[in-house]
Amino acid sequence: MTATTAEPKLTSYDEVPYPRQAFPQTHPDRLATIATLFGLKPQAIDNCRVLELACACGDNIIPMACTFPQSQFVGVDLSSRELAEGQKLIDSLGLKNIELKHLDIMHISEDLGKFDYIIAHGIFSWGSEELQDRLLEICRKHLNPNGVAYISYNTYPGWHYRGMIRDMMLYHTKELKQPAERAQQARALLDFLANNVPTENSAYGIMLQSEVQLLRQMTDSYFLHDHLEEMNKPVYFHQFIERANNHQLQFLGEADFATMITSNFSKEVNETIARISGDIIRTEQYMDFVRNRTFRQTLLVHAETPVRRALGPLSVMPFNVGSRAKTSNDGSNDGLPIINTTDPMLKAAFDYLAEVWPATVKFGDLVKVARERSNTNGPNDAELLAGSILSAYASGVCVLRTQQDTFITRVTEKPQVSHLVREQAKIQERVNNQVHDAIQLDVVSRHFIQLLDGTRDKDQLLEEMVKLVKDDVIRVHQDGTLLQDGEQLRGALRQSIDFMLNAFAKSALLVG
Ligand SMILES: C[S@@+](CC[C@H](N)C(=O)[O-])C[C@H]1O[C@@H](n2cnc3c(N)ncnc32)[C@H](O)[C@@H]1O
Repeated sequence: MTATTAEPKLTSYDEVPYPRQAFPQTHPDRLATIATLFGLKPQAIDNCRVLELACACGDNIIPMACTFPQSQFVGVDLSSRELAEGQKLIDSLGLKNIELKHLDIMHISEDLGKFDYIIAHGIFSWGSEELQDRLLEICRKHLNPNGVAYISYNTYPGWHYRGMIRDMMLYHTKELKQPAERAQQARALLDFLANNVPTENSAYGIMLQSEVQLLRQMTDSYFLHDHLEEMNKPVYFHQFIERANNHQLQFLGEADFATMITSNFSKEVNETIARISGDIIRTEQYMDFVRNRTFRQTLLVHAETPVRRALGPLSVMPFNVGSRAKTSNDGSNDGLPIINTTDPMLKAAFDYLAEVWPATVKFGDLVKVARERSNTNGPNDAELLAGSILSAYASGVCVLRTQQDTFITRVTEKPQVSHLVREQAKIQERVNNQVHDAIQLDVVSRHFIQLLDGTRDKDQLLEEMVKLVKDDVIRVHQDGTLLQDGEQLRGALRQSIDFMLNAFAKSALLVG
């Protein structure tokens, strides 16, 4: 870690750290995918430079640095406590391609260098207007010509509702200094309002109830930082874009691509927005009005970069494709999306994707497999399949990636997970898989996953697990009985090991 400020300033994040997590929507592959769809040629993510502004303890960029050892990562934050946490993890992983800098965003200078991807999550709305402009200025100055910046922020109209509740909570807690007491009192006010404002025939009551339900589920630290920070300045989307334009940046898209598609609305909304909007900015703004949107994750590029908005089947050809959607309703209640098709080639393609999920398949290879399996070879079948994949992506039931998988989906003789996962499992319940998703582990899985360093076969893993039981680190029950030794314990553990390994393989956790 490089200390670049003479006197580290204590921030509210030093007092109450922000919840640790990674954000798949900020991943460079997501940014590169959307840029490629819109006709840009973004830098390959296995050989790129990434800057994260307000990286906190690095929980978002450290996993990226682990997955892409040839790429360089720089994180900047003001909280020395958060950065020290991150540095500890970096040291234990021995990472050489990441640097966490203790630096005020206001003081970033040219010598930080240029980047292919810049991420600013959870900072824009909580900063002064000066800081907000500085973030945009940094994106302009530090982004390579084909670079992509990600900025998330709170938006209107949704934050008019939320802001009203925030004002009431701030008023109620203004004399309180201790974060725990502030959170507790703010919650008490919410409960008081939820219990006493009638919902019948009252738009105010209904609105309060739905916001209160949402806020109740938040942890104290999330609640304090996202709602009760001194600064919280939402903007309308069009205002955000106007300010980005002032810094010679333009709108590329949203990290959540499905939200950009008007056809995901009803026919009437879709047609009305098309009639009144005229351009992409107005279209997005009207969609926010319809949705009462509260939050955006906007991607920006240099103003001079040509952006090709018209998407067609050809757009998906450069990608690796993945989907777990089913092609028929088998009556099970598994929550998997269903793609309705009677076309044999499309059905073969989607069935194959579901079979190999979470692995992705190069579009060209998918065409070959689907033709073989369906025994068809129509003149426009590749285009038809590409069109279906684009629709599935636009409705959020299919993934497109610029990179080949960095995980394997079969269980090898000596199974292995990343060093990061083994380190994360020592300290927390959630680990990051190879595609940046958080995977929740129970106590037994947490201990088991730490053994998966590629040196043990299943028999050796079993012996280690037996030892953990004997040392009373984990407990195994069968039909209400605690198993402590003998063949019954081994049998139960063998079953559990197979189950966990298969679950890890299906969760993009295994590496080869
Ligand atoms: C809400 S947290 C977001 C952390 C992380 N990006 C996330 O979304 O989980 C805001 C972070 O911004 C940092 N921060 C606030 N003002 C800053 C500034 N002027 N320069 C650098 N970091 C700043 C805080 O220390 C804190 O870690």
